[in-house]
Amino acid sequence: MADGSGAEAVDPGALLSLGDIDKNFGPVQALTGVNLDVPAAQVTALLGDNGAGKSVLVKIISGIHAPDGGQIHWEGRAVHFRTPKDATALGINTVFQDLALCDNLDIVQNMFLGRERRQVGLLLDEDDMEKAAAATLASLSVTTVRSIRQPVASLSGGQRQSVAVARAVMWNSKLVIMDEPTAALGVAQTRMVLDLIKRLADKGLAVLVISHNLNDVFEVADRVAVLYLGRLVAQGPAAGFDRQSVVELMTTGASSRVVAASQAAAAGLEG
Ligand SMILES: Nc1ncnc2c1ncn2[C@@H]1O[C@H](COP(=O)(O)OP(=O)(O)O)[C@@H](O)[C@H]1O
Ligand SMILES: [Mg+2]
Repeated sequence: MADGSGAEAVDPGALLSLGDIDKNFGPVQALTGVNLDVPAAQVTALLGDNGAGKSVLVKIISGIHAPDGGQIHWEGRAVHFRTPKDATALGINTVFQDLALCDNLDIVQNMFLGRERRQVGLLLDEDDMEKAAAATLASLSVTTVRSIRQPVASLSGGQRQSVAVARAVMWNSKLVIMDEPTAALGVAQTRMVLDLIKRLADKGLAVLVISHNLNDVFEVADRVAVLYLGRLVAQGPAAGFDRQSVVELMTTGASSRVVAASQAAAAGLEG
C-alpha cells in the first residue's frame, strides 16, 4: 500500500467523511479545511502535537461543537449535528479522556447511566441490565472483571477504560472515538486496551483513536491521520508511515519520508 492508493481525499466508501471542516473560536482558528475519512472495520489513529486541534475535531464529530464551514458525510449522506444526541443516534459514541464514569456506581449502573431500562411501574429492570452489561463485556472478551456489581472505584485503569468502551459500544455503535485511551495506563493495562481496540475493528466498527504514544499507534492503527496547527497534513494507510515521518509531520507539518499521495490527499490536492 506504499503507493498511497487508499488515500483519496474523499472516499465515498468511508463510514464518516469530513470535508473542508473549519472551526474558529473568536480569533483562534482551531481547524482549517480538514478532510478526514474514517472507514468501517479499521482503526484510524489521529495524531498531532498539543493544540493541533484533535479534541476540537473529536467534539465536532461528537456533535458538541458545530463546524463554521465544511461538510460531514455519514454513510454517504450529508448530516448536521445540533447536539451530541444527533451523533449518538447515528451510532457515534465517544470515550472522552476523563471517561466520565461514576466511581460510586457499579459497572452495570455506569453502563446504563442515563439510559436505564424500566419495567412497567418505573422500576429499573436490573435483571435485564445485568444481562446486557455482562453480554457486552463478554463480547469484548473483557474477562478480568470479578463482578459487574462492583463499584467502578475498585477497578484498575485498564478495567475502567474497558467499562467506558463497553458502555460506548452497547448502543449500536458504528464508530467509537477514544481520546488518549492508554495515557494513564501501565504496560499490562495498555496491552488489554490495545487488544480491545483491535477487537472493535474486527467486529466491523470504525475506531478513531487519539494518541501521543507512537508505539500504540503503530501497533493498532490501520490508518494514520496527522493534524498540524489545525490542518490535516497527512492521512493514509499506516504502512505508508513510520515513526520518524509521523514525528516530522507532527512537529513541522511535512515529511519527505511520507508518500506524496498521503500528504496531497490530506491537503485536498487530488480529485
Ligand atoms: N472552547 C474553546 N475556546 C477557545 N479556544 C479553544 C477551545 N477549544 C479549543 N480551543 C483552541 O483550539 C486549539 C486546538 O485545541 P485542541 O483541539 O484542544 O488541541 P489538541 O490537539 O491538544 O486536542 C487550541 O489553540 C485551543 O486553545
Ligand atoms: Mg486534546
